[in-house]
Amino acid sequence: MDPTLITSSLLVLRSIGSEPPLIKGRIPILGVAFEWFYEPGAFLESIRKRNGWIYTLYMAGLIGITQVLTQGRVFSAPIFFAFLNKQLFGFSDATMDDNRFRDALNTKLSKMSQIVELLTATYRGFVDETSGYNMYTASATALFGPSFPIQKTFEPYIVFEENLLSYIRKVPRFLNPSGYNARDRTLEIIGQFFTDDEKVAKSSELVRELREVFQRPEYGYTRPEDFAGYFLSIVFASKSNSVPAAFWYIAHIVSDVELKTEVENIIAANYNKATGSFDWDELCRDELLVSCFKETARLMSNVTSGRYVTQDTILKVAADPLNTGSDWKKSVKEYELHKGDSVLVIGNLIHWDPQAYPEPMRWIGKRFLEENKGKLVMHADEWRSYLPWGGGGHMCPGRHLALVEAVVQCVYILWYFDVEPIDKLPSMFIKHKYGTGVIRPDKPFNVTFKRRTIPLQ
Ligand code: HEM
Repeated sequence: MDPTLITSSLLVLRSIGSEPPLIKGRIPILGVAFEWFYEPGAFLESIRKRNGWIYTLYMAGLIGITQVLTQGRVFSAPIFFAFLNKQLFGFSDATMDDNRFRDALNTKLSKMSQIVELLTATYRGFVDETSGYNMYTASATALFGPSFPIQKTFEPYIVFEENLLSYIRKVPRFLNPSGYNARDRTLEIIGQFFTDDEKVAKSSELVRELREVFQRPEYGYTRPEDFAGYFLSIVFASKSNSVPAAFWYIAHIVSDVELKTEVENIIAANYNKATGSFDWDELCRDELLVSCFKETARLMSNVTSGRYVTQDTILKVAADPLNTGSDWKKSVKEYELHKGDSVLVIGNLIHWDPQAYPEPMRWIGKRFLEENKGKLVMHADEWRSYLPWGGGGHMCPGRHLALVEAVVQCVYILWYFDVEPIDKLPSMFIKHKYGTGVIRPDKPFNVTFKRRTIPLQ
């Protein structure tokens, strides 16, 4: 399917042969753009019910295919990310085009050995009322160190975050000057920071190690704009995803009296009175704590993974995913994909599918315990139905860090405070933010914090 051909002859727009069904909407050129932008979740769900898992959306002259994830050579993550990184975070051209360099940064991110020490040191401050930390500033200080300009970036960053879709949709600057100015300001502050050797020396190990990769002779990306775009993406990945994930994690645990007690017992069992410290390795491996985090990521992650098709290719898909018998190959359906198509996997269409996860919209902390396999997590061995971190070689390198952050925050909060919810858990605010990352609550969640006088037993 050639998009240029299609835009010029909309009336004959249709999928040909074994191409995925084309959802072209009723409005010429705009296609399904309105439905997609207004209430994408409900819209995509209705298409799935009518057309199955794989389909092509036509909007504003663009063709994209949803719901395919495969790591074949014909699907390129870097090309897709290049678009996103440039549009969203303002990556410099040099850093954006260098895949080897970005792989080196990802390796650093996923192998941060000191991450627990880094986080625990700062989060201890979080539970001290005089520190003035909130979840955002505590998390940012923990990851980036005390000299990182967290307070200075906070305001423009929040405006940047509010306007994500403007950048992705390439809304002209004159229609949203405050959004673009906020992003410029955030990039400027981050860029200035990275070229100040004294400040970087006092930052975290994570920041220093990543900067070292930039400065290696084979890369040599040392201009403020080279650092700024990449680090804005890291600030985004961690603050806009792992902070809300930690919020939901803790909020759900404290809202369930029985579960809270079980978690408190686990925390107490992993506290060493003699050394006054926790066994973080054990805590981050604990089945229940991990299951609660996996459940939080399943229900709230709301991420979209993108790949770019680099060669015309045939995709084989089991037409009846419930047929897991030996004859499943008989029902394979072939879909033709074309070079230049963008392939999007909308994680929540899978995560909120009752066939994969019974009672999908309920947060069940114990869902991912082994005993619930086949009851609350269906076909876990046959289906790839857990995708909050994307997949393949470009799977999120910060996933371990996100778990550690949630566990560390939860442990410190419940160790030092008796937490009682005042409000019911808020609902998820999705609407136009669909697919852009971990979902926010639709209203505040008030709790009482009572400092413990008797330690947890
Ligand atoms: C709950 C928290 C998080 C969620 C749900 C999340 C989700 C994702 C997803 C879905 C992807 C795309 C993967 C793909 O398309 O296959 C991704 C990529 C990425 N994430 Fe995360 N992430 C989180 C936290 C973090 C943190 C804390 C960091 C680092 C500090 C991070 C750094 C990155 C980077 C650098 C990439 C790009 C990988 C590449 O280019 O190969 N993420 N993340």
